[in-house]
Amino acid sequence: MGKAWNQTRVAEILGIEYPIIQGPLGGFSSQRLAAAVSNFGGLGSFGAHGLERGAISDIIAEIRSLTVKPFAMNLWVSMEDDGARTSDAAAFQRAASHLAPYISEVGGSQPSHSPYKPIRFEAQARILLDAKVPAFSFIYGIPPAEILEEAKRQGMVTLGTATTVDEATALEQAGVDIVVASGFEAGGHRGSFQQSSEDSLTGTISLVPQTVDAVSIPVVAAGGIADARGIIAALALGAEGVQMGTVFLATEDSGAHPLHREAILTGKARPTALTRGFTGRLARGIKNNLLDVMNQPGTEILPYPLQRALMRNLAIPAQKAGRADLLALWAGQSASLAHEIDVNELLKSLVTGVAARYKNCAGEGFK
Ligand SMILES: Cc1cc2nc3c(=O)[nH]c(=O)nc-3n(C[C@H](O)[C@H](O)[C@H](O)COP(=O)(O)O)c2cc1C
Repeated sequence: MGKAWNQTRVAEILGIEYPIIQGPLGGFSSQRLAAAVSNFGGLGSFGAHGLERGAISDIIAEIRSLTVKPFAMNLWVSMEDDGARTSDAAAFQRAASHLAPYISEVGGSQPSHSPYKPIRFEAQARILLDAKVPAFSFIYGIPPAEILEEAKRQGMVTLGTATTVDEATALEQAGVDIVVASGFEAGGHRGSFQQSSEDSLTGTISLVPQTVDAVSIPVVAAGGIADARGIIAALALGAEGVQMGTVFLATEDSGAHPLHREAILTGKARPTALTRGFTGRLARGIKNNLLDVMNQPGTEILPYPLQRALMRNLAIPAQKAGRADLLALWAGQSASLAHEIDVNELLKSLVTGVAARYKNCAGEGFK
């Protein structure tokens, strides 16, 4: 008899039953969702990159009150792009002018320029280290060696995201435990850090087997995986786990606004597209009116994270006005495969679906 599909190094290292990771969802993460996935036997994650230290501590405490199982906290190693510190009020006004008519349309107040207050990765990471969170995942780079060493000493599992084979190799060389190979189908930001995001657009079916061949640490596949078929495909490519974001975003426990969840669940998520317009960094969302406006040539986009802050001035009144066409509707290319709103039902369908198909491979996996 071969191993059961879920007995992979990823499951073993993380101490979880199923190598299914609920991907961090940045500002749409929720403590309840992360805990529910961990309680089921997967790995729930919380994306904390936008939060100050106090808020991160509170969230870790709350997740711990909801589950005794392992969970991941996620940060962005690089927290600002070139030009963020020197961008001035004039640039702000030019970028804001593209949004002004839409903000007026939904009854919002026009934003005014305020000084940029950076959030530092190192300060956020300190909270994760002090709290000894079970797993620490990150994108947009490799943490400094002293942070990775301390995480290792504390027994924390580290997961780094790669969007190219070279990034995966660099993560392995830095001593990271698990590499998440994120293909360009993925929703939201993927976290390229060696080349520009535009030059790192490899799809999951190409990226995963090449990454598996290049590194000896276990590989988790991310991007476009939305059901049991996708998990089987990832395992067949040599991945030892999957990270899924969009399907979890659609569940009722996620932090996404109902309009956003509805856009995914009603199949309106086809097609998706890439834009820098929502945050200043390239990311994937549903192609709606706002995404088209932001991608128009000549639209001035502020460097990350200034553009992200600017866009909130439209997001809040647009939500109140029920205008999904003016929201950043993050989603991956497989969004239209998301149907389930109950996270436990989703996880059940994934594990039973994989187990049923895997048996047909003579119990020997895909070897
Ligand atoms: C709304 C949204 C926010 C995300 N935020 C983060 C994040 O903060 N950190 C991170 O590592 N990945 C983030 N991701 C990526 C997911 O964790 C996951 O890798 C990706 O969604 C997988 O592709 P899929 O959307 O096709 O399932 C985000 C994805 C979405 C859709």
